Amino acid sequence: MRSKIVDKLILPYFVIEGKKKVSPIVSMPGISRFSVDMLLRDFSKAYALGIRMIILFGVPSPRTKDARGTYSACLEGIIPQAIRAIKSRFKDIVVMTDICVCAYTDHGHCGVLDKECGVGVFIDRDQTLEMLVGMALAHARSGADWVAPSAMAEGQVVAIRRALDRAGYQKVKILGYSAKYASAFYGPFRDAASSAPSFGDRRSYQIDPEDTQRALRKIKEDIKGGADMVMVKPALAYLDVIRQVRDRIKVPLVAYNVSGEYAMVKAGVTAGYWKERPIVEEIMTAILRAGADIIITYHAVQLAQWEKRQ
Ligand code: PBG
Repeated sequence: MRSKIVDKLILPYFVIEGKKKVSPIVSMPGISRFSVDMLLRDFSKAYALGIRMIILFGVPSPRTKDARGTYSACLEGIIPQAIRAIKSRFKDIVVMTDICVCAYTDHGHCGVLDKECGVGVFIDRDQTLEMLVGMALAHARSGADWVAPSAMAEGQVVAIRRALDRAGYQKVKILGYSAKYASAFYGPFRDAASSAPSFGDRRSYQIDPEDTQRALRKIKEDIKGGADMVMVKPALAYLDVIRQVRDRIKVPLVAYNVSGEYAMVKAGVTAGYWKERPIVEEIMTAILRAGADIIITYHAVQLAQWEKRQ
């Protein structure tokens, strides 16, 4: 690849409680969940390779979960702890955090459920925004540079922007998971983060794969609401959406090369169908060609290694 790829990559991390814990994710060969101390150790390798952007996902223990995802806003929670540790240990690091309660709720949905509505999955917008705002504030207080609301709750970007500004965190930026599709490609992530819904699915709040218009509308809405970067997710099956967004907006565009896309590549490597480097590089080239500026990818460390070696 011609231009330097390492500057365009965001490395995702799954953070667990405890000490000296490294727990490999079976569905994502090569990726593990780390306790904060082990994350620091692992990240020093990525840092040496030039990776400067990370995004953190909390995997709290089941005993912390409740119907609202209360633990997500706790200042002593795993993500606030991880942010403080990383920011005090590494310089010039951009720490982003995922803002969604699906790993924190006992039902595994991305918001607080509206019980009045009976069967089906209905999210109570006001209560959900309250939780997301609390989580974003806890992360900002702990030193996060970017917060990335991914719950697909109506108005999440505006609500978080307002709350951050009011609390004096004007410098904390927002990456909107604006065009987040209801995708089967998230399977391995839900296993990694124990965030699969215990009933129903996410189709009432994530975008229908057939729908391009809603994705474009959401992107515009989030930019208007104060998002500094926006995202299309997943990447590979939605390259056309990336291109259409790119042609319409000026803010930086992030593509999320999600867990299922990663797992497919790895499965093919294990089966001997292809070699890892050419297929991963071709995928990154395709995502950049479609118009993404930045890619969140589980291949980040590997890509940085290849680039350094070449
Ligand atoms: C949280 C969230 C998900 C992913 C990122 N943030 C899961 C989901 O929406 O079910 C998926 C990322 C991946 O598959 O790598 N809502």
